[in-house]
Amino acid sequence: MRKTFITKLKQGKIELDKKTISQLKPGEELKVTIEPVRDIVWDKAIPYGHQNVEEDDINAVVGVLESDLITQGPKALEFEKKLCEYTKAKYAVVCSNGTAALHLAVKALHLKEGFEGITTPNTFVASSNCILYNNGRPVFADIERDTYNIAPEVIKKKVTEKTRVIIPVDFAGQPCDMEKIHKIAREHDCYIIRDACHSIGSTYKGGKTGNCQYSDMTVFSFHPVKNITTGEGGAVLTNDKKLYERLKLLRAHGITRDRELMEQDDGPWYYEMIDLGFNFRITDFQCALGISQLKKLDRFMQRRREIVNRYNKAFKDIRVIKPPFEKADVRSAYHLYVIQIEFDKINYSRAELMKELEKKQIGVMVHYIPVHLQPFYQKHYGTKKGDCPAAEEYYSKALSLPIYPRMTDNQVEYVIKNMIELLG
Ligand SMILES: Cc1ncc(COP(=O)(O)O)c(C=O)c1O
Repeated sequence: MRKTFITKLKQGKIELDKKTISQLKPGEELKVTIEPVRDIVWDKAIPYGHQNVEEDDINAVVGVLESDLITQGPKALEFEKKLCEYTKAKYAVVCSNGTAALHLAVKALHLKEGFEGITTPNTFVASSNCILYNNGRPVFADIERDTYNIAPEVIKKKVTEKTRVIIPVDFAGQPCDMEKIHKIAREHDCYIIRDACHSIGSTYKGGKTGNCQYSDMTVFSFHPVKNITTGEGGAVLTNDKKLYERLKLLRAHGITRDRELMEQDDGPWYYEMIDLGFNFRITDFQCALGISQLKKLDRFMQRRREIVNRYNKAFKDIRVIKPPFEKADVRSAYHLYVIQIEFDKINYSRAELMKELEKKQIGVMVHYIPVHLQPFYQKHYGTKKGDCPAAEEYYSKALSLPIYPRMTDNQVEYVIKNMIELLG
């Protein structure tokens, strides 16, 4: 019979849980199998983020691989249905990744060339590149100094008659001030595409992110470091049937087989391309993984919050560290745990600190280099240093510490101990 024992590695020795030993009969042989789980030995560095793929996830994928249909098929439809059930959005369109989802979302709005799209500089480049893919001009609105999310008051100042879309990003998993942003968008007749690539599982004023209460569309990413994964994958959610139909059309080349949309009907093989779309489909085996992962999202979120609580408690009295701030009306998904460090008051630069942590097998990262400072944007869109002072100052102090559901308490304590030794 296979028994599970709780083991702890202390100075190279394995101790068995005393209660388990006391249950053994005298003379009974004890066979201990130690699997290389990072709970016990860290065979690899602790990364800043990591997927959590479990046995049932793998079985779900294998099940589809053994079936006849492996590209987009019934599992994609099922994943869309599950996303709607989870978020309470009316419609969902799954696709190849979060970048494609943003591209599709802007494209579905049919905006005129030269439109302006307002987004945050504190994000991954995909949030603003989707404006460029659709021949628009990106405009960056600076961030709030507490949440590091786009500041509604700055959006107001950046709106012009050319502004057609606002793309707020729920940075690190914390929902933006959606009610205020929604109000600005309605006053100026703009659309909102909420980039929630970090924030599936979060809530805003009690509503699940993705419900599209304050946005025309909401976008998710299922990249491995995100809160749930399909390897690569993304989704657009909406409550608008017209947008939903357009998103589906654009995901697959702009081709339709809907007799009502076609100009003619030559027979059962016949289809028509009625818009310029893409191949942004996702496979059914990825969707099987997504369905399986979605069932665990709340458990993953719970674990992320436990880690956040430990970090927050440990860092609250460290003068040179500012832990993240969570607004009272939201529940962050804590995709990232980002601290601000007063590097001018410590012995290390950020690069040196990262090197020291690397020596200790601790992976950290910086999120994000402000997009307006990227050479491509500076060269082609005239953005420059000083455009978004709050995002630039935030960037100079930012460091993301490891956080992922599989991270053990020992690993969290190990990160804390090393951070305090280096900074305390
Ligand atoms: C805020 C944000 N938006 C969009 C994306 C793009 O998602 P994907 O990597 O799935 O294309 C990312 C990915 O890192 C992201 O962080």
